[in-house]
Amino acid sequence: MSVKKLKILIVGAAGGREHALGWKIAQSKRAGELFFARGNAGTAELGTNLDIKEKEIPKLLEFAQKEKIDLTLALSDDPLALGIVDEFQKEGLRIWGPTKAAAQLEWSKAFSKEFMRRHGLPTAKFETFTGFGAAKKYVSQQPLPIVIKADGLALGKGVVIAQSFEEANQTLEEIMVKKIFGNSGTTVVIEEFLVGPEISIHAFSDGESYKMFPVSQDHKRIGEGDTGLNTGGVGTIAPLPFVDKEMMAKIEKEIVAATLEGIRTDGTPFEGILYPGLILTKDGPKILEYNARFGDPEAQIYMRLLENDLLDIVDALIDKKLNKLEIKWKNLFACNIVLCSGGYPGEYEKGKIISGIEKIIEKDTVVFHAGTKIVRQDLTTNGGRVLGISATGKSLKEALDKAYEAISKISFEGMQYRKDIGKKALEL
Ligand code: AMP
Ligand code: GLY
Repeated sequence: MSVKKLKILIVGAAGGREHALGWKIAQSKRAGELFFARGNAGTAELGTNLDIKEKEIPKLLEFAQKEKIDLTLALSDDPLALGIVDEFQKEGLRIWGPTKAAAQLEWSKAFSKEFMRRHGLPTAKFETFTGFGAAKKYVSQQPLPIVIKADGLALGKGVVIAQSFEEANQTLEEIMVKKIFGNSGTTVVIEEFLVGPEISIHAFSDGESYKMFPVSQDHKRIGEGDTGLNTGGVGTIAPLPFVDKEMMAKIEKEIVAATLEGIRTDGTPFEGILYPGLILTKDGPKILEYNARFGDPEAQIYMRLLENDLLDIVDALIDKKLNKLEIKWKNLFACNIVLCSGGYPGEYEKGKIISGIEKIIEKDTVVFHAGTKIVRQDLTTNGGRVLGISATGKSLKEALDKAYEAISKISFEGMQYRKDIGKKALEL
């Protein structure tokens, strides 16, 4: 019997995550034509990049109906917050991702903090404010540093760790009065500063049961030694040698299972990838935030480590049969190091020619595209995070050495990357 090939639409942010998911899906026997909204030069090699943005839900819906798309994957925060899953489901289309209500765990920090409080989940002490005066008064009574977060989505830039009251007040004024993040800053969350290693947890959830991923770590700051500005994430490693089975069991029970149980009893079961960001404090793991999707660049290493056909997993998730499926992870370590444009996460130029990718031929190394575009047959930069160089190995050190070796073959004007990805993890 011949297998039915599926027409698949991948909706996301034209990042390394979207390329990595497409790369993995393309390996499935059941993968037919792939469409990406948006895409990059990497996804263009796997399928068709559409001239539709991920936030244009009506256009995506129209495309999916017209093209008779069999399956849509919603991968990034904006379309989820706009309710793409609800809209597609209303029209009877098969889509994978959390509903708008379940994804609120990510798109409203005030909601997620109140959720954690209501369900007794471990997180930083906090208060939420809509009034500038009250927020300022609260801050003046707290120890420093103090963390200030705009409520809504702000491209990972809505978080400030203020080292002085002056900086805290200035931040509150920018977010609440000057509204530099627009309505995302109508409400602010002010919270305690947590100290300890930051880790990324991912779990598949079909709303009834869940399966854990290996634990990973991203590197958020642009500068070596975790200095400089926050970014979307510039390097990931997995699994983490310093997180033992006992700690993972605690995280699974007290954070993942408890969160999924909480959101289910609230009447909005979570179907998709639950990605809590944690800090391992001396008082135990605490939740920094929830994401309702794969991390980027966490997804890249997970796609390198996953044994199963991803489409089998997606089917099991949509059909609520996750508990019947065994998910297998390779017994390897993986890393993904992001090559960025000069200036990122601030201003940067686009259109720089990228050279050397074709020299990377080692089978354990895979290049994932993020901000790339073909211009007159040249591969050029088209974003802040440009490429992710991923490698696997029997040890973390081996994986990192392979990735850095591959990076030495690539160049573009202004290229910057961290040379210390995984360094702290190896020392812990
Ligand atoms: P978020 O968007 O909430 O993930 O915050 C962005 C980054 O700011 C996180 O990845 C952490 O590195 C840092 N951060 C956020 N909240 C805290 C906190 N309460 N304590 C320490 N660091 C934090
Ligand atoms: N790697 C961080 C994020 O995807 O939010």
